[in-house]
Amino acid sequence: MNALPYAARISPDMLSEIADQVGTPAYVYDERALEAGILRWIRATGDPARICFAAKANTNLAVLAVLERAGVGIEVATPGELGRARAAGFPAERIVFGGVPKSGDAIRQGIRGGVGMMVLQSDHEVDAAIERACDSPGGELAVGLRVRPGIRAGAHPSLETGRADAKFGFAPEEVPEVWRKLAAAPCVVPRTLAFHLGSGLERVDPYEQALDLVLSLVHTLSGSGAPVEELDVGGGLGVDYANAADPDPAALVRRLEERLAGTPVTLRFEPGRSVVARAGLLLTRVLYRRERNGNPALVCDAGYTDFARNALYGAEHAILPLTGELSGEPSVEVLGPTCESGDRLGTGRRLHDVRPGDLLVLRDAGAYGFVMASNYNSRPRPPELLVRDDVWRVVRRRESLEDLWRGEVAS
Ligand code: LLP
Repeated sequence: MNALPYAARISPDMLSEIADQVGTPAYVYDERALEAGILRWIRATGDPARICFAAKANTNLAVLAVLERAGVGIEVATPGELGRARAAGFPAERIVFGGVPKSGDAIRQGIRGGVGMMVLQSDHEVDAAIERACDSPGGELAVGLRVRPGIRAGAHPSLETGRADAKFGFAPEEVPEVWRKLAAAPCVVPRTLAFHLGSGLERVDPYEQALDLVLSLVHTLSGSGAPVEELDVGGGLGVDYANAADPDPAALVRRLEERLAGTPVTLRFEPGRSVVARAGLLLTRVLYRRERNGNPALVCDAGYTDFARNALYGAEHAILPLTGELSGEPSVEVLGPTCESGDRLGTGRRLHDVRPGDLLVLRDAGAYGFVMASNYNSRPRPPELLVRDDVWRVVRRRESLEDLWRGEVAS
């Protein structure tokens, strides 16, 4: 099992008890690992207020409540995530409504909800925010602008978000005019320039490049009457799913702070994956073995409807037998049960000794796991459990069949 302090450490005995009592598939999170994951960032920045956990990575209320107790903020992408953040106990002022495409209605909900900051990323959002800003509970709306720095960060193509052709944000040359428009609007206080380069990044230098670019905008805007106070560098720091060494948030913070020297702006971070990925696992039972494309394959009761990252991005998460050893050539495919050939959890595994009925642990599934599960094939989504030391509890029950058609009418 994984030695990182922020990785789930749950005994095989407990996992097999969970499988017996709650069934499989099931997501299991380790509360101590969640605490260690967020503490890693708090230590790196020295200030929980400079961290906003990116809710999209894991929105389970019990998980969010653990992070809330650590004192950090939260970045939400939708009114749904905003509602979850509030339900988990986050005060509105610690919520950043992030720089993803938002409808006018979503902006109104954010303003009425009293979010601490709203990051805008299109003209349409800027106009909607200006129109409604005076409805803010405090009479004032702090806003940020998302910049599209035009940088390739080395992420999976679907997860690159800072390239010149990405759909997010303003091009750097557009920013000064929009910023001045915001500064002149009643009830609007422009404070922040934000970027998010992509997700699963291994290197720090793209952040440095992007920071230099926004720092030149900070300089340009220093005489605008509304100087930039904060730079939000987004999330993106990766997890090395194949090995045990992850990029270090402390190194990222140090390298960026060095570049700020003398500039009166603070940094904000929006980590998602690097906080929670390692703290969760997906427990699944093997249904049977078969040959596929000449390779041995295990068909499991969890599939891409429960965990989509292999099918979507080719991500290879460690998959280990609950008991027993890895053996033989790395040639075993791990497949899901649904009606698609692409329904896969992993490829090239040394799982030759695994038999039908055995339990498998898909590791590092705490980020972008349950949140991307679907009901395709009318499969109820799995339960989520939270473990603290030797006690486990269900923090989201398995969906029932009735849950699947709630709200539908037959005639
Ligand atoms: N801030 C913004 C504006 C974002 O769009 C994202 C992620 C984050 C922060 C957090 O990034 P992180 O630290 O988690 O890399 N479904 C994909 C990940 C999509 C991430 C989208 N945005 C996956 O399974 O890899």
